[in-house]
Amino acid sequence: MKVAVLGFGTVGVGVYEMLENAPGFEPGPVLVRPGKEDRPFKVSSMEQIANDPEVFAVAEVMGGIEPANSYVSMALAAGKHVVTSNKALVAAHGIELAALAREKGVSFLFSAACGGGVPFLHNLAIASESDAILSLGGILNGTTNFMLDAMQSEGKDYGDVLRQAQALGYAEADPTADVSGLDALRKIMLACAVAYDKLPVEGFCSEGIESITAGDVAHFRSLGLSCRLITSGGPAGDSVYAYVEPVLFPASAPECSVLKNFNMAKYCGQNAGSIVLMGQGAGRYPTASAVVRDLYGLGGMPMLRPACRKVAADNSGCVHDYYVRCAKADAARFSFRERWEDGDLVRGLTEALSVPAMHALAGQIRKEGGGIFFAAVE
Ligand SMILES: NC(=O)c1ccc[n+]([C@@H]2O[C@H](COP(=O)([O-])OP(=O)(O)OC[C@H]3O[C@@H](n4cnc5c(N)ncnc54)[C@H](OP(=O)(O)O)[C@@H]3O)[C@@H](O)[C@H]2O)c1
Repeated sequence: MKVAVLGFGTVGVGVYEMLENAPGFEPGPVLVRPGKEDRPFKVSSMEQIANDPEVFAVAEVMGGIEPANSYVSMALAAGKHVVTSNKALVAAHGIELAALAREKGVSFLFSAACGGGVPFLHNLAIASESDAILSLGGILNGTTNFMLDAMQSEGKDYGDVLRQAQALGYAEADPTADVSGLDALRKIMLACAVAYDKLPVEGFCSEGIESITAGDVAHFRSLGLSCRLITSGGPAGDSVYAYVEPVLFPASAPECSVLKNFNMAKYCGQNAGSIVLMGQGAGRYPTASAVVRDLYGLGGMPMLRPACRKVAADNSGCVHDYYVRCAKADAARFSFRERWEDGDLVRGLTEALSVPAMHALAGQIRKEGGGIFFAAVE
């Protein structure tokens, strides 16, 4: 069965190569931009792919929202199954695309969009059919994990580890989506949609790692703590909670064993208990392996069920103690149970604060021109 590939970049080349050895499948036409059709299998017309009766399924690995959305819609409307690695596309239009797939009797699967090679959504989709998922999330961004691990183990500053991550190909030239937490946020949106039939589209709290310094790391290291960027999701009444923030863990926590650019996806089932999946969350072949794995699930269980709807996230019930570093002038905004003075800075551990309250306080301090780093304390 021929699989057309949309996009011939990092993941696209991997998918094409894997299709050459995937029993039951073979690579079909590859969509490239006009003028880049330098091999017979490369085409620049999506209509040609949608109208090709030999194309059984389409792997969308070009990224972005448009024209990916139009092309995927075109493929589904033509009765082709679609698998994609594009989290931005699924976060923006997944519900509509899943509805079109149902109408046409084909599959729309997107395992590779969350966790790269880690079979997180695949397992979550199956588990949520038979068990109540009490919580989900974990370390879903390898770039920031690499950076935090390097800061922690090598004592380097943020700028140095970012440059190192870029040189190794772990961070893009514009790293904003990773370091701001947006990439992780999109992944938790998809996981909530798969597990709870609720795609949170607003009401998020998202804090990345842009404000962490070598001084912060040295201080919480002295307290025996390590930082990881954690995504958290779970049921919240009629809605879901969904947020991203740095979290400090004691050295014995499993999260601290996640080194370099690895991911650790977790969910907790009411009956299954805690399930942890670790592996490569990005990269050509890990991501391509998830795309190809989805091809073997075509015609089976959907990832987005008909009941899936858009909701506003509700994080008000999520409460943590926080580690905060801010200017002395801003410290009065917090109720610290322990604090350390460091020149003009105050570092402290707060009393319990709700996630929205902590994120709002940090937002206010930054709006007024101040600086702050915060992390929940596990
Ligand atoms: N890389 C990873 O490790 C990873 C992991 C998980 C998920 N993903 C997701 O997988 C998708 C692809 O990522 P990637 O890293 O493979 O990106 P990439 O290396 O930039 O490749 C994207 C390819 O798609 C092509 N493309 C873009 N728009 C096109 C259009 N309108 N028509 C034809 N071709 C077009 C690009 O061509 P040009 O070069 O001509 O622009 C490029 O060859 C993204 O959604 C990403 O989020 C990637």
